Amino acid sequence: MKKQILGTILSLTLVGCGAGTERAIDRESLQEGMKKQEVKVLREADILQAAMEWGDEISQEAQKALLTTLQEAIASRGTVGAVEYCNVAALPLMDSLSNAYGVTVRRVSHKLRNPADAPLIEMEEILLEAYVYNEENGLKSESNLQKIDGGETLLYTKPITIGSGLCLSCHGKDEISTETLQKINELYPNDNATGHELNSLRGMWSIKLPKSAVINAKF
Ligand code: HEC
Repeated sequence: MKKQILGTILSLTLVGCGAGTERAIDRESLQEGMKKQEVKVLREADILQAAMEWGDEISQEAQKALLTTLQEAIASRGTVGAVEYCNVAALPLMDSLSNAYGVTVRRVSHKLRNPADAPLIEMEEILLEAYVYNEENGLKSESNLQKIDGGETLLYTKPITIGSGLCLSCHGKDEISTETLQKINELYPNDNATGHELNSLRGMWSIKLPKSAVINAKF
């Protein structure tokens, strides 16, 4: 029952409600009020659309930066060395992107490697659960936008899947070498991020976009 509701949340698109409190005194003020309301609704919708686009852009940039870093680390240090490198480099990379844009970029997972990547707010948990539900039921998961902090912030989320064989050398089953697994267990004693297959759900991007930052960046 709860899961069904979660599934529905994913297909929801947010629009501002712009509830007017003015009382209709005569036709003219009523029309004026409606006009005002129209402008407000349109503007809210524009902000939401811009936030969605920005979330897409930032998540793509973050993904590209991580992948480049990962490939370079594997090339220069080998897979075991790259595990060590990711251990110290992944979170600072998210932080520097966050600072550059005045947003909060995170990777969140239901099968955690770094405990710092656990959902921190209820809305992250809800979205992550919904993506897991979709995967379990063969449904497509899409990027999503929800209002949080009383509407002052927009939470953009997008599923992260095991997109290539490369991921499997540290997140797969038999593909992980003994040395790599040893290093993973040494750095992450409670690791739960192995056993994945190609295209399986690995987690999600979670990007908090303050409305003011969206407006600054996009309007
Ligand atoms: C060289 C080994 C290695 C490879 C290859 C690798 N990862 Fe990871 N992955 C890690 C490590 C180590 C962490 C933990 C990083 C940290 O401590 O911040 C991690 C963390 C993550 C997280 C954050 C969630 C969590 O559980 O902490 C996601 C999402 C993720 N990896 C996805 C991927 C995807 C997708 C690929 C393929 C493009 C990939 N990884 C390839 C080692 C690897």
